[in-house]
Amino acid sequence: MHEPRKLYVKSFGCQMNVYDSHRMADTLAREGFVETQDPAQADLVILNTCHIREKAAEKVYSELGRLRKAKQEAGSDTMIAVAGCVAQAEGAEIMRRAPVVDLVVGPQSYHRLPELLAQARAGKRVVDTEFPVEDKFDHLPAPSRAATRARGPAAFVTVQEGCDKFCTFCVVPYTRGAEVSRPVAKILDEATRLVDQGVREITLIGQNVNAFHGEGPDGQDWSLARLMQRLAQVNGLARLRYTTSHPRDMGDDLIAAHRDLPQLMPYLHLPVQSGSDRILAAMNRRHRREDFFAIIERMRAARPDMALSSDFIVGFPGETDADFEDTLELVRRTGFASAYSFKYSPRPGTPAAEHDDQVPEAVKTERLAELQRLLEASKAAFDASCRGRTFDILLEKPGRQVGQLIGRSPYLQSVVVNDPPAAIGDLLTVTITDVGPNSLAGVPVASDPASPARSRPLAAMEA
Ligand code: SAH
Ligand code: SF4
Ligand code: F3S
Repeated sequence: MHEPRKLYVKSFGCQMNVYDSHRMADTLAREGFVETQDPAQADLVILNTCHIREKAAEKVYSELGRLRKAKQEAGSDTMIAVAGCVAQAEGAEIMRRAPVVDLVVGPQSYHRLPELLAQARAGKRVVDTEFPVEDKFDHLPAPSRAATRARGPAAFVTVQEGCDKFCTFCVVPYTRGAEVSRPVAKILDEATRLVDQGVREITLIGQNVNAFHGEGPDGQDWSLARLMQRLAQVNGLARLRYTTSHPRDMGDDLIAAHRDLPQLMPYLHLPVQSGSDRILAAMNRRHRREDFFAIIERMRAARPDMALSSDFIVGFPGETDADFEDTLELVRRTGFASAYSFKYSPRPGTPAAEHDDQVPEAVKTERLAELQRLLEASKAAFDASCRGRTFDILLEKPGRQVGQLIGRSPYLQSVVVNDPPAAIGDLLTVTITDVGPNSLAGVPVASDPASPARSRPLAAMEA
């Protein structure tokens, strides 16, 4: 018997890359690869890359530099593949800049990995950045029970990929291609299988997830809300989330779903980017700040315990102090439980990169620091407001100390519990007793025996 070959996958960027990395690992499991956490042990290294900002994209080259050195020192013949959005955007350029790379594969070609690897093994340097006509999802094998178990009780499922919105700063429409929704039946199969394997929470992901319009079993296009109504009927699926949404696609039925589906978590990540109408127009976001406020108001009316998260860009070309002040004002007025904020990074091939009114780096740095102080304070206020509240957490992993487990609140906060009367994969009702900078602490509320949905018969997630 020979040793199984070892695979090391490193994901950069967004959750879709995390999901894709899992699917690549599932595909290669069929070829006899087992995953390792140690690149030095690996026969194949895959870097699943992100092109969203310059810094993200440059990471791949420093990582490749390290791999080249390690490979030389060990005299190993580890094969190196670059996948993801940098692969799509810079395919041939990667081959030129990094001779250590054997294979470049774009996000729509992952189902071809076994075949591409065979070519690379035969000594060819392979670049596949096609947008093939066949649907890769039809060819990507599902995870084994062991793989699902190792990934924990909260899973991602891609339901929509690509983007037709063309915000003037963004590379995603170029790296991921046109917006495509998966058929409802396929999503349902995947979700049911994950739940059978012990998953309790599913996050539906897409670059524009609320623009989802997949074909339903009735031949009609289903909205995201309708898809979630159906998923809420999957026995054993306790929690649903979706990300990332665009303000333009927050339909009435999606807002109503937050009122009607107890499985749907009261938490919404809704990137707004800027609070200035002038900048929103220049970004081609195609909504105004008032539209954002109106959505939040309707959301909070549907679900009073709704909390929000968002993405912000500072220093977009032409952004003045007054524009930036509008962003700060939007944050103060809305209140965010969490948020990501970035300095604008000009990306090759995007319209905003060509503007001649680029904001100086020093101004971007200053604005980012100010925005982040405000967002931090907003987050801290939200966390503090959770003290004394009681909610369910989904236990996901062991804590640092013996007997501790860490779960996620409805708002994705980490909650540490000592000696919980429950195991990984269980939902546990806790009261929040302490609030720290990175996590909360909770104590279990005496369990209600009349609520069998809480602890589940499946032992699948227990190690
Ligand atoms: N589809 C999502 C987000 C995609 S990218 C949406 O429509 O909002 C994730 C975040 O990266 C964006 O929300 C934006 O805040 C940030 N981002 C994208 N391009 C950027 C750029 N060129 N410079 C700085 N931040 C950027
Ligand atoms: Fe990028 Fe805009 Fe599409 Fe989001 S909606 S992925 S920011 S182009
Ligand atoms: Fe990055 Fe591609 Fe995601 S550019 S953010 S990995 S879609």
